[in-house]
This record gives sequence, structure tokens and C-alpha cells, in this order.
Amino acid sequence: MEYDALTGWDDDTTAEAYAAFTRAYPMYSASSRDLAARAGLTRSRVIVDLCGGTGTTAEAILALAPPDATVISLDSSTAMQSIGRRLLSDPRLTWVNAPAEDLAAHVPARSVDAVVCNSAVWKTDVAAVAAAVRRVLRPGGRFVFNIGGAFAGVTHPDTLPMPSMPSLSVLIERITARDYGIVPAAAAVPPKLPLPVITRLLTDAGLDVVATEVTGQRTTTAERAAWLSIPVFAHPEGSLTYEQKMAILAEAAAQSNPDDVTVTSWLVIVAERPEQS
Ligand SMILES: C[S@@+](CC[C@H](N)C(=O)[O-])C[C@H]1O[C@@H](n2cnc3c(N)ncnc32)[C@H](O)[C@@H]1O
Repeated sequence: MEYDALTGWDDDTTAEAYAAFTRAYPMYSASSRDLAARAGLTRSRVIVDLCGGTGTTAEAILALAPPDATVISLDSSTAMQSIGRRLLSDPRLTWVNAPAEDLAAHVPARSVDAVVCNSAVWKTDVAAVAAAVRRVLRPGGRFVFNIGGAFAGVTHPDTLPMPSMPSLSVLIERITARDYGIVPAAAAVPPKLPLPVITRLLTDAGLDVVATEVTGQRTTTAERAAWLSIPVFAHPEGSLTYEQKMAILAEAAAQSNPDDVTVTSWLVIVAERPEQS
């Protein structure tokens, strides 16, 4: 699963590869559309796309927002946003280059109808982000985001036919052990943001959790291999070079079936600033 990368995003190669991936495969556009739909945007005037990267989530928001709405896409990576600015020109969209934790320094208090954050919140200081989101939301405004299944400790119960070949992750581990003697740590790392933890962080910031759902996204091995070739996500984590990781991936991909399907799990959260606050 995706690792907790606070660094690595402000890099042109990662940004180009990420943007190409989001246009070739549905993973990020589908999860962005799901979150935008849950944000209830039909009467929104101002919407924040938090950790918006190259603009995939902003695109989903713009498709559902009223014609006179304004969308602010905020991200700390200049490299990601410069691609977004090039690919997505819409007069309703503005780009803010800043950390998510500093949102309240860039957007007036109580001015925002919804904050949407796709596939990023676990990379941030969540307590600081929740406090900033609460400050900028109007009473009744929504904060909608997802957490990768491994970080939330959830697995969608979808049952699929047994894949015809071992998964890419298993193959990558085997090849890495064989060629470099690197084996993954035996003890599983506990999830960073399970539902009770995220609920407490939101409640402490003055936000109510109004809905949660574990969703499952079908992912082909071909899509997974393309995702693993984005530098910031390349496996195994750690000391090997990108070229070494790509050689491992190429061998693993050659031993797998590109059409095998697995399920990627997400914990989706809808929180609200209470009306009387
Ligand atoms: C997986 S991308 C998601 C981008 C976009 N939401 C999408 O769905 O395509 C994660 C983004 O989070 C941004 N990010 C990570 N930590 C951040 C932080 N603390 N503040 C602002 N942006 C951050 C990265 O720069 C990157 O663009």
C-alpha cells in the first residue's frame, strides 16, 4: 500500500508520472468523483480541494459544482500544481501553493461550503488540518475525505475469484529477497488512522462525523504496476534506487497476469461543522 510520504511529491518526475497515471487509469478520478458526490455541492459557492495535486479532484468537484462556484485547489507541491495549471484551465479554479495545515491562513474563516481531500489526509498533520478545516468551513459545511485501507485498518469485504497468479506485492517481495537479501519487517505496523482515532481528532477540532463507509475499488494488476512505477510509490520502500525498483517491478509484472483484479479499500468519512457553532 501507499507509504506515508511527506516528501517526494515536489519532484517533476513524480508529478509527470502521477499526472499521466491519473489520465490513463481510473483510481484517483473515481475516488475523487465519489468524494465530490458525497460533499453535496449543488448549492455550494466556495469549495476547497485540499492536497489537490495535479487537479484530478478539482476536475471532479468542478463537474458537480454550480456554474458560479469557486474552487480553491491547495497543495504544498509546486511540481504537482504546475502540471495542474497547465492541464486544467477553468476560470472557477484558483491554485494555492501551501501546506494543508496552513489552510486557514489562505482562506477566510467561515467562508467555505465544502472541503474535499482525496487520497492524502494521512500524509498530513491531521489534528492541525482538522482545526484549519473547521475554521474555514461555514456552519453546516462538510469535510469529505478518504483514508487508504492500510492506514485506516479496513478491508472491503468484496470477494473476487482467486487471482490466476501471485500478486505484484508478493512477487516484488520474493525478487527483492532473492536479489538483495531484503525481507519485509515481520511485525505488522498498526494502522495510523483507524476510525476511533480519526473520529477523536475531528471531534476535538469541533467537527461531527456524519457518515462513514468502507468502499472497495477494483484494480487490475496492470493499473497496480503503473501506479508502482510512479517514483514516490515505487517498491520496495527504502534504500534501492528507482532503476533497481523498476527492474524488480518489470520482472514481477512479467510473472503476473495484467488482467487479474484485486480490491483496493478506502475508509470514507463525511464530517460537518455543526450548524450552531
Ligand atoms: C496522491 S496525491 C492526491 C492528489 C489529488 N487529491 C488526486 O486525487 O489526484 C497526494 C497529494 O497530497 C499532497 N500533500 C501531501 N502532504 C501534504 C500537506 N501536508 N499539505 C499539502 N499537500 C500535501 C502531495 O503534494 C500530493 O499532491
